[in-house]
Amino acid sequence: MDLSTTIAGVRFPSCFMNAAGARCVTGDELDALGRSRSAAIVTKSMTLAPRDGNPEPRYYGFPAGSINSMGLPNLGYLAYARIIPELRKFGKPIIASVAGFSEEDFVIIAKVINESRPDLIEVNLSCPNIPGEPQIGYDPDVSARLLKRVRNVVSVPMGVKLPPYFDPAHQERMAQVLEGVGVQFLSLINSVGNGLVVNPDEERVAIKPKGGFGGLGGPLIKPVALANVRAFWKLFGGRLPIIGVGGVVNGTDAFEHFLCGASAVQVGTALVEEGLGVFERLENELAMLLARKGYASPLACRGNLKEL
Ligand code: DHB
Repeated sequence: MDLSTTIAGVRFPSCFMNAAGARCVTGDELDALGRSRSAAIVTKSMTLAPRDGNPEPRYYGFPAGSINSMGLPNLGYLAYARIIPELRKFGKPIIASVAGFSEEDFVIIAKVINESRPDLIEVNLSCPNIPGEPQIGYDPDVSARLLKRVRNVVSVPMGVKLPPYFDPAHQERMAQVLEGVGVQFLSLINSVGNGLVVNPDEERVAIKPKGGFGGLGGPLIKPVALANVRAFWKLFGGRLPIIGVGGVVNGTDAFEHFLCGASAVQVGTALVEEGLGVFERLENELAMLLARKGYASPLACRGNLKEL
């Protein structure tokens, strides 16, 4: 079964890759992704300065999903600008995830990272874990201004990682913004921000930063992810490639993302919990499912979700 896919003109050897943030901070982690069956190497969202991130514990996994408030631990953009050319040897696409604390940060980072020639740049408008900083993706006007400026300094295909939206009006407004700024792909969704996981035995929160509040991932967010993939697929009439992110733990989860309109999927919580072997398992599970259903490839079922 051919599980390869194409996003914004870039060919991926399969349709499963890491989600930004999952096992992709250090040079060693990025190398390990290169050697694994991940279809791409997606970097941790990078900031101007290197960061240690929030105090630990800052990630907690449980059967229904995960909560994290990492606080953007990363090596700083100059380190990734050096590392990205070295990752070329793995012969798979490299996606640089760009973040920042101001519009200016995003522009500086995007410009320098663009020169290190990743295959794609994913602009992260949806980090929910910085105390005092609202998610940019929840402000359409700020998003529009920022994306226009970043677009001007980026020549590789540029996409956007969006937060989950819970109202069709918000999805429609963001789609209008994206139409106007030359975005070439979407990664949907980032974690469901500012959830709270409680340990009733200990009568305490699960993670230390922000009083226990953090971004939710894993199986519990899959319906929210699928809803956003479907909504944006429809809003763009299937013309804008979507990377589905949220709750992909098995081949069926990926199939559901493809039915909703995804062209590939990223794996976050399941990669953190299971390790790099997750990619081969997901490939096998999806290949068996597609074969059983008579689909020749993931793209053959893309968007085919039936309504009642
Ligand atoms: C972090 C979490 C995110 O969901 C994100 O998009 C970027 C950074 C973090 O806490 O490190």
